[in-house]
Amino acid sequence: MIKKIGILTSGGDSPGMNACIRAIVRTALYHNIEVIGFIKGYEGLIDNDFVELKRESVSGIIQKGGTILKTARSARFMKEEGILQAVKNLTANNVDAMVIVGGDGSFKGAIELSKHISIPIVGCAGTIDNDLVGTDFTIGYDTAINTVIDAIDKIRDTAESHDRVFVVEVMGRDAGLIALRTAIASGAEALLVPELKHDTQSLISKMKNWRSTKSSKIIVVAEGDQSGGGFKVADMIKTNYPEFDVRVSILGHIQRGGNPSCMERVNASIVGFNSVRALMAGHKNEMIGIINKQVSYTPFAKAVKHHQKLNKDLEELIEILSS
Ligand code: F6P
Repeated sequence: MIKKIGILTSGGDSPGMNACIRAIVRTALYHNIEVIGFIKGYEGLIDNDFVELKRESVSGIIQKGGTILKTARSARFMKEEGILQAVKNLTANNVDAMVIVGGDGSFKGAIELSKHISIPIVGCAGTIDNDLVGTDFTIGYDTAINTVIDAIDKIRDTAESHDRVFVVEVMGRDAGLIALRTAIASGAEALLVPELKHDTQSLISKMKNWRSTKSSKIIVVAEGDQSGGGFKVADMIKTNYPEFDVRVSILGHIQRGGNPSCMERVNASIVGFNSVRALMAGHKNEMIGIINKQVSYTPFAKAVKHHQKLNKDLEELIEILSS
């Protein structure tokens, strides 16, 4: 019987985390389960820094980006000493279940924690990268890709006016899923992502076929692509095509902020709500996600093996549709 749940947000923040926190808190309280929120992810667990969460603690946050519980990438939690301190605090506070909201690093942390404590732990996938197995969309991805296409649409206006080539670097140090969708949605001329392992030379040769009547060209590059990122790609283009007027735009952390989209708020609410239900039903060491509109449960160990293969057809689609 679960009486007290601890929650934390960890890793890079993502829009929709607050909607998820709200859903967890209100679902738990509905079932007469107390909730405490640890501050700054695993750091708060180690420092015993937490707040009690009441219904009103999560009022007016569903529409806000970021996370009211703050977040961190905890180096201390990667050491056994840190984990043991966290276990001590959880036991002293009578926490008998945990919900971790975060990405792959956060779930790897949850796996380590579960080796030292027997309380059930479940996760809600919160990362803009969408790089977890076991959910169609992670919390934050939809808002981030909409932020990106809004930015690329603006870049397209100025690129058109100046007849320029723009290399737009988007987030994703291990995954190209932000780049893939936003390249399609912005009508980009090319895409460079880590999963496709293209050498940049192939981009250079493809550029020969670009229609000369096209005034602007947009290349979307994921930050983790082996090309080395936006500036490197631009340098290579300048060397091979000195006639092109090239500019670089690194979108950076604006992709992590902003009010969550409607889809984000809904998904985050469903996932948060079901994380509490999952704990009550005896689930542990699983990530709660949504696949084909159905709630799904994926063991943490599987969820973190993110390298989803990119659909090669979509790469061809980008080339054909932008020709
Ligand atoms: O994990 C999400 C993410 O936004 C990645 O896309 C990006 O590489 C990374 O976080 C940046 O992290 P930080 O804000 O810690 O530099």
